[in-house]
Amino acid sequence: MDEPNSRVLSIEKISVNDPYIDGYIILATINRPNKLNALNSAVMDSLKSLCAWVESNQMIRCLVITGAQPMPADEGKRPKPNAFVAGADIAEFVGMDSRATRDKFADNAVEAIWSLTKPTIAMIDGFALGGGCELACSCDIRVASTRSKFGTPEINLGLIPGYGATQRLTKLIGYGKTLEMVMSGEMISAQEALNIGLVNHVCEHDNLREFTMELATKIATKSVHTLITAKRVIRAALNSTLDAGIALEAEEFANLFDSKDQQEGVRAFMERDKPKWHDE
Ligand code: COA
Repeated sequence: MDEPNSRVLSIEKISVNDPYIDGYIILATINRPNKLNALNSAVMDSLKSLCAWVESNQMIRCLVITGAQPMPADEGKRPKPNAFVAGADIAEFVGMDSRATRDKFADNAVEAIWSLTKPTIAMIDGFALGGGCELACSCDIRVASTRSKFGTPEINLGLIPGYGATQRLTKLIGYGKTLEMVMSGEMISAQEALNIGLVNHVCEHDNLREFTMELATKIATKSVHTLITAKRVIRAALNSTLDAGIALEAEEFANLFDSKDQQEGVRAFMERDKPKWHDE
């Protein structure tokens, strides 16, 4: 699987700063700042290619997704605001009927990100609205700048969310808060998003990249095999009963005792050494 190469999605490979790890973190930047990084078909296609590449490439240990910063404004023009992603591209909705919508939204990039087995982080600086909020919710962890704003304004277009907010947002922030966001269409601040559990961390925009990459590096220096197991078992909590989830955890916990990385992790601890993961 080749590295995706697209005008609307820039890819940066960041080496994991660890002498024992030969791999990298991918920083993928959605690059349509003049349209507040809105998700048009080209972006969605590129994100799907990105997911296939991330999943198949053994060197990739963690994916961070962000939105491009605004370009300098033309003379006399108002600068565009900062955005992670301001939603699905509304211009593409013109003239669409239910059949076209089913085709467009089936098997979409937000689901591809959600389905990734490797760790994912949304790095949010600015508007995360509609599909942008949903894209963030499909990542494992969300880090936002203080100037970010979150919302599900589809109600103002006579719509409901279509990339999973009615379900994934409900799992993150609960039934009542999701209803309020979806039915009012109002935006909330980064601080409120933090208070209700929509984001994991908020920091000043000047520190956002450093903070996020530090977190990504911490995760990327763990065993990929163990990370994938952790994500799969925690994800099961969303769909299973408590008893079934506990049974799954017990099974997967036991299985890890047959893995090379469990042996290595315990050896390294006992010998006061640093683990050298096999990722298996
Ligand atoms: N789809 C398509 N284009 C979008 C967009 C979207 N979701 N969000 C913003 N844009 C475009 C605007 O049309 C504008 O393009 P133009 O300069 O070529 O006219 C550009 O991005 C800048 O946006 P603008 O509205 O001028 O910025 P603003 O600072 O006045 O307002 C927002 C910012 C985010 C409040 C406003 O753009 C907005 O409400 N966007 C739509 C959000 C939404 O409903 N998302 C859910 C979609 S389902």
